[in-house]
Amino acid sequence: MDRINVITVDGPSASGKGSLARKIAQIFDLAILDSGSLYRLYAFFLEKDIDLRSIPKIIKTNIEFKITQNDLRITYLKDDITDKLRSEKIAVKASELSSLAEVRDALFDIQRAFYTHKGLVADGRDMGTVVFKDAKLKIYLTATVEVRARRRYLELQKRGQEVNMPALIADIEQRDLKDSSRELSPLLPADDAHVIDSSDMSLEDVIKITKNLIKEEYI
Ligand code: DC
Repeated sequence: MDRINVITVDGPSASGKGSLARKIAQIFDLAILDSGSLYRLYAFFLEKDIDLRSIPKIIKTNIEFKITQNDLRITYLKDDITDKLRSEKIAVKASELSSLAEVRDALFDIQRAFYTHKGLVADGRDMGTVVFKDAKLKIYLTATVEVRARRRYLELQKRGQEVNMPALIADIEQRDLKDSSRELSPLLPADDAHVIDSSDMSLEDVIKITKNLIKEEYI
């Protein structure tokens, strides 16, 4: 198999995939794909009563991804909808929608189109197993449910959203179960993925390990 210049970062909710992907993209000047946000966009547009079949076209024509210093912002017709997309309500709906073949099939090509010769960091659940099977480097980032819930708690609190720790743990556990037990593209490390358990690590530790892997296998 010819390997393409893609680094995949898969793993469960709140494992720190997004932060790692953004940092690596910044350091190595790579394009970035936050595939979870595409599933969240489906949830967002369905809430607006937009027909499921019209959503791929809207994503292709009216959605823009903008990399800022520390974030990846998403605009819909110039309106910044990033915070709306990151709510727990949208996350739960996105997880439900992600088990539909129609949604996964439509998003496959949209996701592949993020690849350019500049190279790409793609984070999600099935980047290394399905969408970019031919990626040069695959990472599977995980952590215990308690550690992930704590990180999500602090993140939501910082954004001024109301949070409740037991509810957050229950939500994450339920989503883990759904994401890993669904029939289509279940959450699993690819056979050739490097598994990193970040339960006792800082983001800086994870970045350091990833930079070493990039030097060994990507560059
Ligand atoms: O990474 P996230 O929390 O933004 O993802 C939201 C939901 O989308 C997640 O619960 C499962 C789904 N998802 C998926 O099925 N496949 C991906 N590659 C990315 C996300």
